Amino acid sequence: MAVRAPPPATSVVEAAAGVEVDMASMVPAGRSARRYGAAVRALLPEPGPVDPVAAHAAIARPAPDGRPWVAMNMVASLDGAIAVEGVSHALSSPADKEVFGALRGVADVILVAAGTARAERYRLPRPSPERQTERRARGQAPFPRMAVVSATLDLDPAGSLFTDLPVGFEPSERPFVYTVTDAPEPRRRQLAPVAEVVDVGTGSASLTTLLADLHGRGVAMVLAEGGPTLVGHLLAAGLVDELDLTIAPLLVGGEGLRMVHGAPAQLAAMTMAHLWEADGFLFTRYVRSANR
Ligand SMILES: NC(=O)c1ccc[n+]([C@@H]2O[C@H](COP(=O)([O-])OP(=O)(O)OC[C@H]3O[C@@H](n4cnc5c(N)ncnc54)[C@H](OP(=O)(O)O)[C@@H]3O)[C@@H](O)[C@H]2O)c1
Repeated sequence: MAVRAPPPATSVVEAAAGVEVDMASMVPAGRSARRYGAAVRALLPEPGPVDPVAAHAAIARPAPDGRPWVAMNMVASLDGAIAVEGVSHALSSPADKEVFGALRGVADVILVAAGTARAERYRLPRPSPERQTERRARGQAPFPRMAVVSATLDLDPAGSLFTDLPVGFEPSERPFVYTVTDAPEPRRRQLAPVAEVVDVGTGSASLTTLLADLHGRGVAMVLAEGGPTLVGHLLAAGLVDELDLTIAPLLVGGEGLRMVHGAPAQLAAMTMAHLWEADGFLFTRYVRSANR
């Protein structure tokens, strides 16, 4: 379970959202917040340079009863595209990678749908030794654990997600594959040596059951990285506590996917917790208004 920083000075916007932010994570004037070569500055709640790693580590994310806190991280163009030619890479930037890494740094589990894992050729996360030390100091495992959701189990057991293990990686930390009771048996057998395969439904995986399973394993914070089908299921079940949406200063056009697919239309009010900027990219953080 993640251990968070002691109660900090709380800003007006964060207080309105019921969320605490450690103002000490704001970078003192004159110091650089650059890690990937782009300086990130906060626009709200307090303008000024910001260190995304320290800032995300200082945010309290209280797990709701019976499940972990669920944050969702996505990137979209100004006109709402979430992929260019089938992948999101063209929408990213050095600062986006910095914020993405900061969020991964605080997650106990990274949750991704099989479609995105296939399209984006997912690998296991590789936190730097410094980041691993920070995680241990917070009471977290050095590596966030991957969890993939799939009904068909169309996942390559020889693929990099299962075989390209980072230095220091414990085999007991191999990815979860959350699936359904009626998943194809041969594929289940192929994945069993390289993944922990867990049934959470029939026909379609129940995200509520999945999160209850993670909660039972002591997981306090899940970072969902999409894609749109998974996001749809999470939204439909009311399981998104936080949205960290990067808005890339690009127009993409075309007929691309939007962030959510397949969920029934329903309004869920969100409250802005912070807004950062770097090189024209906006880094938004919203929390569910119900969390106030
Ligand atoms: N811009 C961004 O931030 C961002 C983030 C993520 C993804 N993307 C983009 O999104 C695209 C991929 O989207 P996608 O349409 O493939 O959607 P997706 O949500 O990534 O994947 C859908 C697949 O995930 C599995 N799945 C999802 N929910 C499930 C559930 N409840 N139970 C069982 N299986 C479930 C199924 O896999 P099986 O078919 O194996 O059963 C389903 O076919 C890519 O172009 C990627 O680049 C963009």
